[in-house]
Parts: sequence; C-alpha cells; structure tokens
Amino acid sequence: MASAAAEATGAPPTAEDAIEKSKTDVQQIDPYNVSGGVDEHGNAKAIDYDRLIEEFGVQPLTEEHLKRFEQVTGKKPHRLMRRKLFFSHRDFDKILDFYEKHGKFMLYTGRGPSSGSMHIGHTVPFLFTKEIQEMFDVPLVIMLTDDEKYLYTRNKNNGTQKKGATAEDFLKFAHENIKDIIALGFDPKKTFIFTDYEYIGGHFYRNTSEFESLVTMNQARGAFGFGDSTSIGLIAYGAKQCVAAFPSSYPELFGYKDFRPPDFDPSAIRRHKELSKIPCLIPCAIDQEPYFRVLRDRCERMTDPHPKTCLILSKFLTALQGPGGKMSASDSNSAIFMSDKPNEIKNKINKHAFSGGRESLEEHRKFGGNPDVDVAYTYLSYFLEDDEELADLEQRYRSGELLTGEMKARCIKELQKFVADFQERREKVNWEIMRSYMNPRKLEFQGNPNPTQPQAPAASETNGEKEDGAADGDKSGGKDGRGTKGERKAAKLAEKKAEKLAQRQKPADEGAAQ
Ligand code: TRP
Repeated sequence: MASAAAEATGAPPTAEDAIEKSKTDVQQIDPYNVSGGVDEHGNAKAIDYDRLIEEFGVQPLTEEHLKRFEQVTGKKPHRLMRRKLFFSHRDFDKILDFYEKHGKFMLYTGRGPSSGSMHIGHTVPFLFTKEIQEMFDVPLVIMLTDDEKYLYTRNKNNGTQKKGATAEDFLKFAHENIKDIIALGFDPKKTFIFTDYEYIGGHFYRNTSEFESLVTMNQARGAFGFGDSTSIGLIAYGAKQCVAAFPSSYPELFGYKDFRPPDFDPSAIRRHKELSKIPCLIPCAIDQEPYFRVLRDRCERMTDPHPKTCLILSKFLTALQGPGGKMSASDSNSAIFMSDKPNEIKNKINKHAFSGGRESLEEHRKFGGNPDVDVAYTYLSYFLEDDEELADLEQRYRSGELLTGEMKARCIKELQKFVADFQERREKVNWEIMRSYMNPRKLEFQGNPNPTQPQAPAASETNGEKEDGAADGDKSGGKDGRGTKGERKAAKLAEKKAEKLAQRQKPADEGAAQ
C-alpha cells in the first residue's frame, strides 16, 4: 500500500511501495521506478513522455535549443539530441549562455552499481555525456552510488542484508562498472570517477551536511514518498547525489586544496567560494529528475550560493519486449549486455525484439510496418550515427519495402559492432588505469576558447540588487543560470513562506512521530 501522504501529494511512493505499485495501471517514473503502467488487458503501456514533461514541470527540448547549441559550440548537436531521445531539460539555454560568456561549466552524471555488468541502455547517458564533454571541452565527474544501492537493497529487504548485497559487494560492482564506463572512451585528463564509499569526505561531506540541513523529513517524504519504515540511510542518501553537482565538492579537480588527512591543511578548511561560481549541467535519464528538483530549490541557500543546476534529460531505452518497460539488468531476456557475444546479440534480437511488422509478408508489403514501436528500429535510432540511413530505413519500413527480418539484421550488425569494439577496449582497462581516473587531481580543460566575459560572477555577488543584463564587468544579471532578478526575488519569498509554514507545522509533526 502506498502511504497516505504519498497519495495525497501525488508524490512517488516509498521504495517498498514501489515494487507493488509498478504493477498497477498508472504510469510511474521516479528514481526507484520506471513503468508506463498497464492497459485494461494487463499489457504494459508505453511511457507517455509528454505527460511526464507536464507532471515534472520540465521544458521540452526544441529546435531552437539545437540551433543555439550549434551556434555556441560550432558543432552539430549529438544524434541523441537531434532525435529528441534527450527530450527535455531545465535551464539548458542558461548553461549555453554561461558557456558562451564565461567559458566553462562542470558536467556531472552517475550510475547506481546494482550489478557487475552493464547493458546497452546504461551506456546511453554516458555516450551522450562523453561527446558533450568533447564538444565543450569541460571537466566531468561521474558518481558511482555504491552506498545508494546498498541502502536501497537492504531497505527493500526490510532491513535484512542478503547474500551478495553487502556494502563491499556494491563497491565491487562499482569498480566493474567504472571499468565499463572508462571503456566507453572518456578522456582521462578531464574526467574524475569516484564511488561514494571511497571518496565522500572533506569538502564534499561538508556540502552534504549543509544540504541535509536544508531538507526536512516532510520535504523528503514529499519528493520521494519516503515513509516511516524507510531507513534513515536511504532518506539521507539523496543529499549526496545532490551536492555531487557542486564543483565546490571537489576542490582538487580545480587545483584547490581539500583539508583531509593525511596532510590536513588549515589553509583549506574553508570551502572555496570561487568554485561555487561554476555552474553544472547534468545529463541523465528522467527518472533521476526528482533528486535534482530538490537540489535546484536549494542551490542558492548554501553558505556559498551556487547557480541552479541545469539538466538535460533522456528517455529510457526500451526493453527487447517493447515499449512499456526499460531494459533491466535483472531480466537477461530484456537486455543486451555489454558482455554479450555476437551470437547472443543475434539470438536475442531475432527471438525477443518486439516487431512493428505485420502478421504476414503479404500484409507487410501491402500496409507497411510501424517503426515507432519496432524495437530493432528504436535501437538503431539510438546507436546508428547516419541520419540519412536511419531516415531511409524508416521510410522503407513504413512503405512495406523493408521487412522485419531485414530491420533486425541491420540492428544486429550495428549492435554487434558497438559491443565488440567496446569489449576490445574493455579488455585493456586494468586496475591501474581505473585508479588513475579515480585519483582526485587537477583536471585539464580549456572550455570555450573565446568567452565574451571570462570572469564569472559569484551567485552571492549578484544576489539581490543588480538589474538584469547590467553591463558591469564581471557581474552579469540573470543570464548566468541563476534566473532573473524577479525570479530570484520570487524564489526568496517562496522560501520564506515555506520556512514559516514548516515552523508552524513543527509541533504537529513531532506529535505524529510519536
Ligand atoms: N541514482 C543513480 C542511479 O541509481 C546514480 C546517480 C548518481 C546519477 N548521481 C547521478 C545518475 C547523476 C545520473 C546523474 O542510477
């Protein structure tokens, strides 16, 4: 049963509820759940992304954004953007403005290491992030949430620690996943990869503490649907995923000091204000958006205010069985793994990939196929670079000229190549190479070679009084990812209101907890 609070606020259910809920008819997307619901016959429904845009209050990615992207970077937008597989955003235009003006930002993405092997769906946000990093020439941090997966799994099992699900197991999965991620080709000079168990401490942990102080139990319940039986570890985890978006959590990457042992440096006790000027863009699948909604509401309330984090959000790669589910590592027939052999890929596609073709050859020739629900075509739309070939396949399938078997054969060929190339690189990623990405060190990046205004203002410097667009040296108004003056004022008012409300609700809350 979903908790009453979650029902009342329309919030995602608790982790425990989620398992049951995902079998019901409603679409449900949150960090613990991805399901389009089921129809009256019990069949899985495709995820309704337009509805999600409305429900989450995110913006659709438009042709305007693609044009602006091209203008700012001088490069053609990534195929996943061109095809609107990255389909929505928050403040993507602001990060482009900031980059054009001040020259740099930080990229951040992550992965929950729920098992030692990754499937092709897991590679999608990483492939995108890698190419975006190359286009902008900016630093990237990749977070592996071994702690989240440990806490989530144990919470799901009502506090019992199952075999193969200890903290150490998840750390091990994280290491295997990191090798996979490296094999996708990230530049070692500008990429820092960490697991929470290994890295969190120092300035990162101080940001975590402060962020935790900004989220009440009521708000966590509202955002994630946590209930009274959720462990406090899982409740608190979200703060870490949030502050990982702050460059000030990683002083070493930008040539500043942390204060941690072994060489505790008193001069580095304070967090570095300079770093809070650098904005962050997170490419991720839309199920992670609830975390970052909580984050964006609090960026400007940190001791060193940070600009609101920008997001670019993707759809999910469908399971082999077709629209309605996403690839799942726990169902090997739903997914193509990065460790699959060529004939496994072939058999899985041929046997399991949902087809948009007609019942008989005759009907197919006459009425044509439907690429929109065809899984082989869908995978090609993610992995095939050539726009013309893709359009040609689509058109010939619709007309009935191209048969399901032929579409599948093209898909098999493309995926076999993608996976085989990956495996060749993966074999070379040894322990030393992995550790070199995980070493907190100064990253090397250029950013925009010709920023119009190289000095970025601090969020705190321009809070309040500056007019929008005021041309005053390094202080810009409004265009740097923090919203306009009016927006900031409104945000402040809303915040005060929320605080007052929280104060008033306090006695009632405490009563309820007893
Ligand atoms: N919670 C994510 C998962 O389970 C992992 C993650 C952490 C992440 N930080 C992120 C994903 C930032 C995308 C962007 O997969």
